[in-house]
Amino acid sequence: MKNIITFGTFDLFHVGHLNILERAKTYGDNLIVGISSDKLNISKKQRQPIYSFQERKKIVESLKCVNKVFCEESLEDKVKYCKEFKADILIMGDDWKGKRSGKDNKTFDELLSGVCKVIYLERTPSISTTELIEKISII
Ligand code: CTP
Repeated sequence: MKNIITFGTFDLFHVGHLNILERAKTYGDNLIVGISSDKLNISKKQRQPIYSFQERKKIVESLKCVNKVFCEESLEDKVKYCKEFKADILIMGDDWKGKRSGKDNKTFDELLSGVCKVIYLERTPSISTTELIEKISII
């Protein structure tokens, strides 16, 4: 059994979210999704999510391709979560490729070396939660 783990906010759930989750699932058997807490989203994106954590969780866990959902409380705990859920592969959007983050200023490849494999998948073009919020605000 191969465990795949991925992370995100998944606010105003859109087709880019569905595409990455469906593609992530094809890499293994169990797809485990860490969903940012409301507090984490505020610190990450400087805004309160439109949908609460409970609403975002309910939507993501209802998907056929998702086996388990948990709350991501801190960006600093990726290694802890990958170990806890026995992840074989971490899937991230390709906007994270080569990007350094966290207190150790490491890429995910560096951070997770010896813990699990890291695979970056291409983002779906022309859609994001931020863009949707902007479009809706203009209307
Ligand atoms: N994602 C994707 N394609 C998009 C948008 C998001 O593949 N067009 C992926 C991200 O790479 C991430 C996951 O979906 O792996 C959750 O991303 P999230 O940050 O919640 O969504 P965004 O739409 O990117 O949100 P925002 O605009 O607030 O940054």
